[in-house]
Amino acid sequence: MQHQGMAAAPPITQNPDIRYLGRLLGDVIRSYGGETLFRRTEYIRSASVDRHRGVAGADAIDTGLDALSLDDTIAFVRGFMLFSMLANLAEDRQGVATDPGADVAHALERLKDEGVDARAVAAMLEKALVAPVLTAHPTEVRRKSMIDHRNRIAELMLLKDMGHAETREGDKVDEAILRQIALLWQTRPLRRERLYVADEVENALAYFRDAFLPALPALYARWDRALGQRVPSFLRPGSWIGGDRDGNPNVTAASLQLALARAAETVIGHYLEQLHALGAELSISTELASVSDAVVALAEKSGDDSAARRDEPYRRAISGIYARLAATYSEISGRAAPRAITIKAEAYPDPQSFRADLVAIALDLAQTGGGALKSGGALGRLIRAVETFGFHLATLDMRQNSSVHERVVAELLKVAGVEADYLALDEAARVALLRRELANARPLTSPFAGYSDETRGELDIVHAAAAAHRRYGPACITNYIVSMAQSVSDLLEVNILLKEAGLYRPGDTPTAAIMAVPLFETIGDLDKAPGIMSDWLSLPEIAGISALRGHQEVMIGYSDSNKDGGYLTSTWGLHQASRALVPVFEQHGVAMQLFHGRGGSVGRGGGSSFQAIRAQPHGTVAGRIRITEQGEVIAAKYGNVESAMTNLEAMASATLLASLEPDPIGEADRTRFAACMDQLSDDAFRAYRGLVYETDGFRQFFRQMTPLTEIADLKIGSRPASRKKSDAIEDLRAIPWVFSWAQARVMLPGWYGVGEALAAFRDQALLREMVEAWPFLQSTLANMEMVLAKSDMLIAAKYAELVEDKTAAQAIFGRIRDGWQKAHDGLLTVTRQTRLLEKNPALDQSIRLRLPYIEPLNLLQVELLKRHRAGEDDARIREGIQLSINAVATALRNSG
Ligand code: PGA
Repeated sequence: MQHQGMAAAPPITQNPDIRYLGRLLGDVIRSYGGETLFRRTEYIRSASVDRHRGVAGADAIDTGLDALSLDDTIAFVRGFMLFSMLANLAEDRQGVATDPGADVAHALERLKDEGVDARAVAAMLEKALVAPVLTAHPTEVRRKSMIDHRNRIAELMLLKDMGHAETREGDKVDEAILRQIALLWQTRPLRRERLYVADEVENALAYFRDAFLPALPALYARWDRALGQRVPSFLRPGSWIGGDRDGNPNVTAASLQLALARAAETVIGHYLEQLHALGAELSISTELASVSDAVVALAEKSGDDSAARRDEPYRRAISGIYARLAATYSEISGRAAPRAITIKAEAYPDPQSFRADLVAIALDLAQTGGGALKSGGALGRLIRAVETFGFHLATLDMRQNSSVHERVVAELLKVAGVEADYLALDEAARVALLRRELANARPLTSPFAGYSDETRGELDIVHAAAAAHRRYGPACITNYIVSMAQSVSDLLEVNILLKEAGLYRPGDTPTAAIMAVPLFETIGDLDKAPGIMSDWLSLPEIAGISALRGHQEVMIGYSDSNKDGGYLTSTWGLHQASRALVPVFEQHGVAMQLFHGRGGSVGRGGGSSFQAIRAQPHGTVAGRIRITEQGEVIAAKYGNVESAMTNLEAMASATLLASLEPDPIGEADRTRFAACMDQLSDDAFRAYRGLVYETDGFRQFFRQMTPLTEIADLKIGSRPASRKKSDAIEDLRAIPWVFSWAQARVMLPGWYGVGEALAAFRDQALLREMVEAWPFLQSTLANMEMVLAKSDMLIAAKYAELVEDKTAAQAIFGRIRDGWQKAHDGLLTVTRQTRLLEKNPALDQSIRLRLPYIEPLNLLQVELLKRHRAGEDDARIREGIQLSINAVATALRNSG
């Protein structure tokens, strides 16, 4: 199989790490799988590499796949999957995915050159909030054990770089790497059991513990230096895990409690360890130093009267702080602190009081000895951590679908005798009724009435949230996301539920302890978003609440809008809606906070976060942004402290630039460009909707061509693949939609419709001008280009053979292939390239290196799917399919 458009490409230069790790993997396969397996694997590998390099006559070479028995197939797929994992690792070490200059120091320099001084930066940061929000969206196919082995190999490679021949434990580094690869080879890659919410909670906690907790304080130390003053703690990671119950019946009030309890234990446990180390460090004696009254007072009331520490007031003060924090731990978790202490003390009422004690010590240290102990150090880092993570670690969002709220509120109103048929009311009547209810202090629920399970569950959740606010403080839950939000009543319904638990309080100045946040996620809803927000902010009670809070969040959904309207229309719709929201918020004097719901793959808004934030429309960021981080992206970005620091730097610096840089294009150009985009978007929309929603037999074609059903069997998340029992594309969740197209190497959600739009657009000069001048279009096309480079119509054609209705298959696949060609050609013309990724050699090399490893996996997957669907009932076939899905996803990296 010849790869399309490869002829003019320069040769691939092998990354030496890939060669080294690949050789070790070969050794492992040979010793554990046997010589025959090794030879067969090697044969398939080199034949595929030859074909991709265009070696003469290579097309005729047999792929070697036919010679594999079922057992061999499984072993082979594992081998290729591991190779891809190791290749990813080698690339991460090279920083292939890192944007150059994506750090705060560079951003500050750039801003300075543009006339923005440090004062303006500091003023902006005072009001800033930047939040990566971890979700358990099911796209991570690798088990945590596999990722852990991978991380250990990365650590060992680092030792090797530093020229160490031995590990600290005395093992030879090369042997230790080989050993890890051998362990990987013998670790089962597929989950046998389904994942529970509790597992998802623990998985995420590992990232907080191992990456966010150490990385953020270290970053601030760096940023304080870069800015020449203390930077406010503006970066605060969040989480959805245990709070997002949209379409996931496994998330309940108990999940919310569990997630918050585990988070609090983790973060306070971390502080206790840090305090312990700090006590060891601050051995300053009054015989050699003078100490402020504040520290003496802390030491005096610490309860630590050990004779050995009589002259060490810092240590005594820290013993007292430790005792109070240990008491806080017990009070919050109901268990003794991990490292018990004999001093009896009162728990801290909130993180601010804990911080105040730490600050008293820090101020004192800063005043002694000319300030050598002034900045940073373990104490400085701990203060940062407390400011960032409080006693709750990460803000946990709640999330539910608007249709659930509607039903629940209708039931509450009916049982209370307020309104017999809420669902029959129109929007105006609903709003009037809900506002009346919200102005009334009387609750709607009665402990003596019976409610449906659904309503009971929703009430339990808000009561659990109220209890969490009392226990962990109000920062633990601040936002309640309403999926598929389409109206003001969708938001008021949330307030009705909150009111039942005392989280919304009526009165002269109503208050809401949790903010209702609309998630706009269809093309139509994005269009309506500015109008809905204007109506929302015009309600006097909401205006009052927003003024008190200072901001209102709006969430925008990348995946569902893409599934609804295709790549270009979704991207443009998101851009336009964000822009149109700016004047609405300005008019109401409320700061806007956009929350971007995006995944790893381009069809779900993926691509470089740095570029994506920078390409946001002018005025929409203004220091406040939240972004979801999901699935495989989490391990890639936050797998260790170093990469967490790199990625958080990128996010922070992009936010600085997007907030403070002047608009890259003027008003007149924008108007011209927007008119052009409107037309492109309309054409792309028509082509996309025409194919996906208006073609007879498309649904069936999609289900048979891709491994959609088999993906649903992967045990990669706690939630089901569909919201409803229906095979309509509308009801399918966006993730399996995108994921299955990626497996079949079509990746339709990342490009379909753009080719038709480009082909129909006559003014090439204008298009080129836009591409040169407009970051929005640059990033839109760059992402599409990556997807086109990873897609492969020749392989896709093999998947199309899986479709039973051959005539339909030919017709529909013909349109897809034609659309691909148009997108490909159109892109090359507007970007003035002769082949894909010509101007991005690093990514080009990275993808081309991968392709020969993915192709045999695809070919095997198709064969196994054929046999499976023909009714062959061998457990190894199912296993092979699952493994191949896993392997292709690993090799493509951002596929889910
Ligand atoms: P959702 O997420 O299905 O939870 O809305 C979609 C996505 O992240 O792609």
